Amino acid sequence: MTDRFNTIAGWTLFAGIVALGLSILSDMYFGADKPHRPETMGYAIEGVVEEGADEGPSLALLLASGDPAKGEASFAKCVSCHTINQGGANGIGPNLYGIMGQPIGKHAAGFAYSSDLASFGGEWTYEVMDEWLRSPKGMVPGTKMSFAGLGNPEERANVILYMVQNGGGPPLPEPPAEEPAAEGDEGAETGAAGPAEEAGQAAAGAVAQEQPEEDTPSATQPGDN
Ligand code: HEC
Repeated sequence: MTDRFNTIAGWTLFAGIVALGLSILSDMYFGADKPHRPETMGYAIEGVVEEGADEGPSLALLLASGDPAKGEASFAKCVSCHTINQGGANGIGPNLYGIMGQPIGKHAAGFAYSSDLASFGGEWTYEVMDEWLRSPKGMVPGTKMSFAGLGNPEERANVILYMVQNGGGPPLPEPPAEEPAAEGDEGAETGAAGPAEEAGQAAAGAVAQEQPEEDTPSATQPGDN
């Protein structure tokens, strides 16, 4: 009897130890006990994410805080193909003096633009120029500007400022001052609602006897319908 009890107890203990060992091993292998947070939370939604990634400071803000002198330094990447002085010659690429605000692919007289750029349409707004400099081939697949693009939004903004400095351009976009203003409006609304409500309550208090009677019929009406 005692023997059998010991045997059963022994096997039970052994099974427990094996189970514990397996569980430790599985933890070591799969790490199921440790929560692993993904580096970026949430799901990637195409299109939306790209905008979000681009978001950072807005182009308007980068232009407002940018530096055309740094843009001039970056323009060293362009001079093998472009001049930017007034009346400068076209090279592999068109002269870029006063390009900002001009029709796309038409600005430099005598330059043979690719038909894709010439027929692109529209003007060199700040947004379009930013997009172009980010990836010329991304914006106009058939362009003959063989330039990979400038990946850094700050650098693009500085180059754009340098181009504005050489021949001008449309007024710079306003940096986003609207958001705080909108919040301010909300605050003002809430502020206005407070006193108005209080006034309403005071009025209700003044006509406290009539108020419930007025409410009662209107409250029963929906029930009647
Ligand atoms: C390897 C030569 C090359 C380099 C480098 C290059 N470009 Fe160009 N660029 C061109 C060519 C060629 C075109 C004309 C494209 C077409 O017709 O499709 C062009 C067109 C442009 C246009 C459009 C002009 C218009 O009249 O509509 C802009 C703006 C421009 N380049 C800016 C730049 C800037 C800024 C840089 C430097 C960051 C740069 N490019 C670097 C060759 C180059």
